[in-house]
Amino acid sequence: MGEPVSRRTALVGGGASGIGFATAEGLARAGHDVVLVGRRPAALDRAAATLAERTGAGISTVVADLATDLPRLTTAADVLVLNAGGPPPARILDVTDDGWQDAFELLLRGPLRLARAALPAMAGRGFGRVVFVTSTVVRQPQPDLATSVVLRAAVTSAAKLLAREHADRGVTVNCVAPGPTATDRRHQILAARAGATGATYAELDAADVATVPAGRAARPEEVGAAVTFLASAAASYVNGTVLTVDGGRTETP
Ligand SMILES: NC(=O)c1ccc[n+]([C@@H]2O[C@H](COP(=O)([O-])OP(=O)(O)OC[C@H]3O[C@@H](n4cnc5c(N)ncnc54)[C@H](OP(=O)(O)O)[C@@H]3O)[C@@H](O)[C@H]2O)c1
Repeated sequence: MGEPVSRRTALVGGGASGIGFATAEGLARAGHDVVLVGRRPAALDRAAATLAERTGAGISTVVADLATDLPRLTTAADVLVLNAGGPPPARILDVTDDGWQDAFELLLRGPLRLARAALPAMAGRGFGRVVFVTSTVVRQPQPDLATSVVLRAAVTSAAKLLAREHADRGVTVNCVAPGPTATDRRHQILAARAGATGATYAELDAADVATVPAGRAARPEEVGAAVTFLASAAASYVNGTVLTVDGGRTETP
């Protein structure tokens, strides 16, 4: 009811690779025009060309650092996927003041800046979907991902507040919380753990996967599918929730 029938525009953070790229592909296949945002122009151009060839959708790019910038086209987005890289791994007592500040800008302040710009415009058009890509650490903390554990709990609370702001205007705000997902980010975390512990990368990979009932890491498109669902018109009554995509790993219900 009251939703536009024209093609929708989806702005996807970190869209050049990993979960962002897979999400962009899901949204493009679902009929959206997609704007990819990231810091490396060449990587964005490569991703855009690949997606346009695979899906036939309209794909454009905006170069921006989501920790510090408000990307062009943010207010035009009907769908906003708040996704970027993760902070460096560290245990809580090892995070410096600068480490906290950088993680705060990347994980909380930057996404909130975009949400603040996009949500009123969405409400004015009578349709909007905001999806924060967070992590299962919001439900099951991991000691060596301290900034992510602490700040993504705050993101989850922020998303809940945002979800209630324009719920009566066709706008929803949700989180997708991935578990281990086969991307550059997972590779970097396992490599960092290998450097810190003396265990091999292969041992750490096997130990991580052993904690997942599905017995493997997610393919990025499995996370992208969850975001694409929450971005759809069909998800109109799903609001203010966290959808874990983790092969069953999180132990709490
Ligand atoms: N992979 C996992 O196992 C996993 C598990 C749980 C949660 N997550 C979370 O899910 C999110 C996506 O993860 P991923 O595995 O896809 O990460 P990834 O492989 O590191 O890819 C991140 C993408 O975001 C872009 N990016 C990074 N920092 C950015 C910034 N400041 N501004 C704009 N773009 C930025 C990168 O491109 P540029 O460098 O060119 O900007 C890259 O395209 C992260 O927040 C991560 O913490 C991942």
